[in-house]
Amino acid sequence: MKISYLLVFTLTQVVLSNPTPTQPERLAERQLLDLPSKITDQSQIESIAAGLESDAAILGAAASILIDVLEAIVPSPVPAAIPDAISSVASVYAAHPTDFVVNALDFILDGLVPSDITNLVTTEGSEENSSSNNNPLSPSPAVYPQKSAGDAPYSLDENSLRSAIYIPSNFTYGEIPAVLLVSGTGALAGGNFGPNFGKEFQGSDYADPVYINIPGKQLADLQIEAEYVAYAVNYISAISDNKNVSVLSWSAGSSISQWAVTYWPSTRSVISDFIPISGDLHGTETAYFLCPGFPRLPCAPAILQQEYNSTFVATLRNAGGSSAYVPTTSVYSIFDEIIQPQENTGASAYVFDERKVGVSNTELQNACTVAQPGGTLYTHEGVLYNALAFALAKDALIHDGPGDLSRVDVVAECQKIVISGLSLTDVLATEAIVVELVFGALTYPDKVLSEPAIASYAQTDVPA
Ligand SMILES: *[C@@H]1O[C@H](CO)[C@@H](O)[C@H](O)[C@H]1NC(C)=O
Ligand SMILES: *[C@@H]1O[C@H](CO)[C@@H](O)[C@H](O)[C@H]1NC(C)=O
Ligand SMILES: *[C@@H]1O[C@H](CO)[C@@H](O)[C@H](O)[C@H]1NC(C)=O
Ligand SMILES: *[C@@H]1O[C@H](CO)[C@@H](O)[C@H](O)[C@H]1NC(C)=O
Repeated sequence: MKISYLLVFTLTQVVLSNPTPTQPERLAERQLLDLPSKITDQSQIESIAAGLESDAAILGAAASILIDVLEAIVPSPVPAAIPDAISSVASVYAAHPTDFVVNALDFILDGLVPSDITNLVTTEGSEENSSSNNNPLSPSPAVYPQKSAGDAPYSLDENSLRSAIYIPSNFTYGEIPAVLLVSGTGALAGGNFGPNFGKEFQGSDYADPVYINIPGKQLADLQIEAEYVAYAVNYISAISDNKNVSVLSWSAGSSISQWAVTYWPSTRSVISDFIPISGDLHGTETAYFLCPGFPRLPCAPAILQQEYNSTFVATLRNAGGSSAYVPTTSVYSIFDEIIQPQENTGASAYVFDERKVGVSNTELQNACTVAQPGGTLYTHEGVLYNALAFALAKDALIHDGPGDLSRVDVVAECQKIVISGLSLTDVLATEAIVVELVFGALTYPDKVLSEPAIASYAQTDVPA
């Protein structure tokens, strides 16, 4: 495949100044990618990925071209069993550790994601992925525009904040303690947690799941996204007889939740447990791998904010956000392909306990031995189906304070490959989240060249 870089550059300029491409521009894009009718091997994947990466700015305006690519891929049969799926996932990442576009396409080629993959690039979700829910209950006293003095002002209106909350029809309003599920960048909470924690919690007597579906799949300004979490915590608690809730997050859902408790202090008194899975409280050194061409080409705001040394990360940590405000149970894997570092006290997910509220930090490969399945190659998304991660979360939810390894049957949990009750389909659906993230990052329409400004309420925490 031949790509004219001059043409790419020219088209990029056209599209950046004019976000909706004209018909002839679209045609030119397709010719540029020189898309074969069937994609069946690795070398085709690599040249298509190179084309998509150099086309990243155009893709923001024309996600349709990516759908053409996805539809051209002829997937291999799905793996026969969960261990095969997990080892195939590990080999895909091992082959191209930093090329997420190649990995995402390889996942599809190798049959490692559900067959309805094109759904992943569409932004609207229904049911547990819905961001436009009708939640008629209005708390009294109100939790908006402010629950307590000291809370930051919301920039969004209450209806926008409230409609992002998906409350399952059989929610118990406090009879069973609510757990707010906060997704990571690129995902909606239904897709993020439906095939793992959400499935386990649904019908349990200790966790009543609620899905927070941030419009735009959390690729926009993380500060705005934190507003959804702050509001949802106070809203769900208020309509649940003022009972406490817990927050379980994945990836960037963790830094926005921590931002929410930092700047909306009223939330702290109603959160029993904060449970970050593969958390990113220090961003990641590999953020730019998700932004091919940056800084020549722009990138989604949320990804720039998750760069290890971003102003967002520095501000959160300077404000005290590297330490817990509520009992916190953090679980992560050193083999995280997206968030690095993820080891020892330098792990991005590591939460300090300066305020002595109770924190447990669990690195899977420390808690389980290398000889046990649970201590092996769990990815960023793999921690979502890891049995020890689930056992610690459950332990936190059924006891006061954070999850405690000494109360968990570590040997038995480390011996499991995935959480009891999950199927091969659940594992593949969980793996698909990162594919969704990569495509979301490529096609995000409002890319920027620098981080959004820090909100005025947090200005005093911006390090000099
Ligand atoms: C939610 O989104 C995921 C993809 O992220 C999809 O697999 C799942 O089917 C969606 N659920 C519904 C009810 O649409
Ligand atoms: C809620 O409904 C789901 C099925 O939609 C069911 O599996 C679950 O047991 C129900 N949960 C409760 C708390 O009744
Ligand atoms: C609610 O959460 C707060 C903060 O974690 C905690 O201090 C308080 O004891 C919790 N209340 C109940 C009833 O669990
Ligand atoms: C972050 O900043 C520090 C200090 O300037 C520097 O040493 C380090 O290399 C930076 N890390 C990344 C990933 O850019």
